[in-house]
Amino acid sequence: MLNFAIETAREAGQLLLEKFDRGIAIHKKGDTNLVTEADLASEALIIERIRSYYPRHSILAEESGNAVVIGGENTWKWIIDPLDGTTNFAHGYPCFCVTLALEHDGEIVVGVTFDPTRNELFAAERGCGASLNGKPIRVSNCENLGDALIVTGFPYDIKHRDDFARHLTEMLLSSRGVRRDGSAAIDMAYVACGRFDGFWEEGLNPWDVAAGVLLIEEAGGQLSYYDGRPFSIYTPPICASNGLLHTQMLRILS
Ligand code: IPD
Ligand code: CA
Ligand code: CA
Repeated sequence: MLNFAIETAREAGQLLLEKFDRGIAIHKKGDTNLVTEADLASEALIIERIRSYYPRHSILAEESGNAVVIGGENTWKWIIDPLDGTTNFAHGYPCFCVTLALEHDGEIVVGVTFDPTRNELFAAERGCGASLNGKPIRVSNCENLGDALIVTGFPYDIKHRDDFARHLTEMLLSSRGVRRDGSAAIDMAYVACGRFDGFWEEGLNPWDVAAGVLLIEEAGGQLSYYDGRPFSIYTPPICASNGLLHTQMLRILS
């Protein structure tokens, strides 16, 4: 199933890249939330592939209505974000990906994130480690927040998130730098391979984080809520790190 996920992510990513090069129509699905024909085409491709290879599996896909689970058995569930980084994509900013994960009995067992502009494929299978283009990856070994490069995202409903400005200010003052790249799935893949040392964000959905959670776990990192409780993909917010920085990050976020 890992190979199926990899092939599917590569195919969908190629489709995104072709549409990115051509320029495509954009629609608003909220005040600041966009959807393009690329989101829809990528999702259709992925769902069609799952339907033909695994017709009994469930699917939780971002654009299929309001995050519907489409039929099937609930013990196996594909969780799909067909285009993570839609705002970047719509503005011609080349930082976006396709990300998909397979959940079995409530546990993520496969996760794949593919960035077609850099041809970088991040993959993880539970118990088998995480990789980037086939080579094993590990989280960083940075021990001090002052030496760390941290990444975050600004939720679409940022106006309603009172603590965000305080978290951002304190993280900026305590770390080497904070980045905001506009794709939570890429942010998390970069924590898994050590490019970033930590990540936090509010208001994410399961399809934004499902693959990233497994990538980070399999690469030796740590995930939790802001109070340290174990993280579930179905309920934000998220704090992820290389493990060594986790307590220092939680001190700011809690
Ligand atoms: C968004 C991106 C972004 C994050 C938003 C997500 P989308 O996903 O992951 O980094 O800050 O909260 O909704 O809409 O581009 O798939
Ligand atoms: Ca997303
Ligand atoms: Ca999306």
